[in-house]
Amino acid sequence: MKTYQLAIVPGDGIGHEIIPAALKVLEAAANRFGFNLNYTFFDWGAGRYIKEGAFMPEDGLETLKSFDAVFFGAVGLTEVDDTLPAKLYTFKVRTAFQQYVNYRPVKLFKGLESPLRNKTSKEIDFVVIRENNEGEFVQSGAFFRPESPEGLATDTSIFTRKGIERVAHFAFQLAQKRRKKVTNVTKSNTLIHSLKYWDSVISEVSEQYPDVKLEKMYIDNASANFILHPEYFDVILTTNLFGDILSDLGGGIMGSLGLGGSGNLNPEKEFPSMFEPIHGSAPDIAGKGIANPVGTIWSGALLLEHLGEHEAANHIINAVENVFEKGIKTKDLGGTASTSEFAENVISVLNQ
Ligand code: NAI
Ligand code: MG
Repeated sequence: MKTYQLAIVPGDGIGHEIIPAALKVLEAAANRFGFNLNYTFFDWGAGRYIKEGAFMPEDGLETLKSFDAVFFGAVGLTEVDDTLPAKLYTFKVRTAFQQYVNYRPVKLFKGLESPLRNKTSKEIDFVVIRENNEGEFVQSGAFFRPESPEGLATDTSIFTRKGIERVAHFAFQLAQKRRKKVTNVTKSNTLIHSLKYWDSVISEVSEQYPDVKLEKMYIDNASANFILHPEYFDVILTTNLFGDILSDLGGGIMGSLGLGGSGNLNPEKEFPSMFEPIHGSAPDIAGKGIANPVGTIWSGALLLEHLGEHEAANHIINAVENVFEKGIKTKDLGGTASTSEFAENVISVLNQ
């Protein structure tokens, strides 16, 4: 029997509720489909920072390297400087492990109603591919005499040929398995250096995929189209910042931010990939047992997919849909199920 070694990082806030709930679902899938999951838990995050002054130990990345995948909740606490969670944990793992693809599927589950009137699961089904290692989030910048009247601050975006090419190849190859359309969401009419380069490298890469249609759309127009014509999209290829924003909008049109799952992928599998819901640690609802576990369960399904357990992954998503079709929902979707009750319902469908 195959055994996978998973590093589990619940993080902070609702991470401690959604990760245990989702792990039970993964466990049920493992039992049904004949593989083993071995977990090693890590108490990393803002909570650890308060106690020990660091989000993770100095050799944390080295430790993670030996695992098949990382399953992550979210980091961030109201008491801790909110510039630290990304810098000291999330971005650190994503860049050190060359997880240059952030894979963020958006689909309307049957049994749920989109806040978009008249849009059904036929019209809302696409994937946001967010460049995950460079762009606007490289955190290269500085403050210059910020307290003075002349104070100023900078953040420089960095786009490299290598970085654009590799994520573009991933997007085109994904589109080949889907509806064969890539929409490059950009803003090259005003970011006339970085995103002009982004566009031109993507166009070059597209020549290797003549069966895939490439279209360009500016981020402002794309935001409107998420609401008005979500059916337009198949694979969205976009930058780190734009992808961050658009994927929360994707969560919104699915019905809740709590629904979105994601994979930070190192497609070459030279390093472990990391799977996490698209949302944060939700301090406003932490500790109440009401967080929606679906984004985390979906991330777990993406993790299994990445490990090659396709059947288990599909069954998990179908089971979630089946639970929604029974009318069982968490509070964010207007229901009354708790985090663990929702997960238990998914497990009973999986065990049928
Ligand atoms: P958030 O995503 O944590 O919450 C936004 C809103 O969505 C809140 O009202 C929250 O209650 C709701 N929500 C989020 N997940 C939910 C779920 N599973 N079920 C039901 N409702 C849910 O974003 P916010 O408030 O901007 O950030 C809170 C903290 O999370 C901050 O410290 C931020 O830095 C951190 N954060 C961490 C991320 C990560 O670890 N990858 C990503 C985004 C934010
Ligand atoms: Mg985000």
